[in-house]
Amino acid sequence: MALDLFQEKGIPLERQLFTWKDLVRRPYSKLDDDAFTRTRVILMNGIEADALRMKHIFARLNRELRPHLALVRRAEHHQQTMVNWLNPPDQSALETTLGFEQLAIEVTASVAIHEPDPYLAQTYRFGMLEDFDHLYRYSALYDRVEGKDPNNLIQSYSDIRPGRPTSVEHRHPLDDVRRSYDHKTADPLSKLHAITITAAEFQTHDYYMTVGPQFADPLARQLYAEIASIEEQHVTQYGSLCDPDESMLEKWLLHEATEVYNYYSCLAYETNPQVKAVWQRFVDYELGHLHYVMELFKNLERRDPAEVLPRTLPEPIAFKEHREFVRKVLSQEVDMRSRGMDYVGPAEEDPRSVQYREQLNSEGSPTETVAAGYHWRPGTELAAKAERMGSVLEGRRLQ
Ligand SMILES: [Fe+2]
Ligand SMILES: [Fe+2]
Ligand SMILES: [Fe+2]
Repeated sequence: MALDLFQEKGIPLERQLFTWKDLVRRPYSKLDDDAFTRTRVILMNGIEADALRMKHIFARLNRELRPHLALVRRAEHHQQTMVNWLNPPDQSALETTLGFEQLAIEVTASVAIHEPDPYLAQTYRFGMLEDFDHLYRYSALYDRVEGKDPNNLIQSYSDIRPGRPTSVEHRHPLDDVRRSYDHKTADPLSKLHAITITAAEFQTHDYYMTVGPQFADPLARQLYAEIASIEEQHVTQYGSLCDPDESMLEKWLLHEATEVYNYYSCLAYETNPQVKAVWQRFVDYELGHLHYVMELFKNLERRDPAEVLPRTLPEPIAFKEHREFVRKVLSQEVDMRSRGMDYVGPAEEDPRSVQYREQLNSEGSPTETVAAGYHWRPGTELAAKAERMGSVLEGRRLQ
């Protein structure tokens, strides 16, 4: 049954309590749990990080809201801790990175499929093909640096092959700003989508900026630097889909609704019972935040939250493979470029973007170097070598 945002009040803020032991739980297993458990943990960490980010920005800009923001923000912080600490200690930064890109592909695909506005849906498809390529580039690095098969983590849900080549994703900043939805007429689902994907991309950017310099391998350092730059473009792109004419409280209300929606989606698909209990608890916590902000919205703006929020939540985000959809988009839209806010064919791209990327790539492109001649195959590139070696030995014995 669809969750009614007005009827369901969740758990009130003053009862949202934690202890250190409660915050730090048993992590999921990187190989035994379903790959989507990892992607959900990454997504929800990103959503919570964005809840904090937004509330800090609002506090800088608004005196009246400060105490309210401080109260809810502390709960968001502890939620983020509990979620992020579900990541296991034996998962390397590069393995977590593969999870980030798998998340970007599958969640953006689900959003693109369900997005009611054609321009917004186009934007999600456009970005999805770029993150799809990142998964391939990082997989090449993983095979070459750690000598392991990325598919052990990806679990065959997502293809590991080139998308729109990262080296051509670099665009002039003015070709990354998009047209926003109109907050007065947009479907509420469009708003939830834009907030979700912006939060996920922001976190991806921040993660690459944190772990990139921790690699010793010079090519790995360059690879993270190059892909982090695209993630900054993605934050610019998706962030500009949100209408800047929404009031602060309207944005806050929508953000809490997005948090409810995301936890509710995770809950619908989760297979790990301990992790599922966290999603259930936080659906209730977010409903508590939502109702707290609904009261502020009524009292301070004298507006009805029903103007902004959907009555019930839409169908959950689909945590499943979207291989056929991704392949179709890849075959039809891989050569698409952007010119200002519009999507165009390769010949119509704005020369400023061509110039921008020629300059950045003028001393080589790490994403090209890392994947030169790389084709994903089960059991890594070494398996191919071992096979060849085996047939050579076999040949000698026969002589
Ligand atoms: Fe939260
Ligand atoms: Fe991205
Ligand atoms: Fe919240």
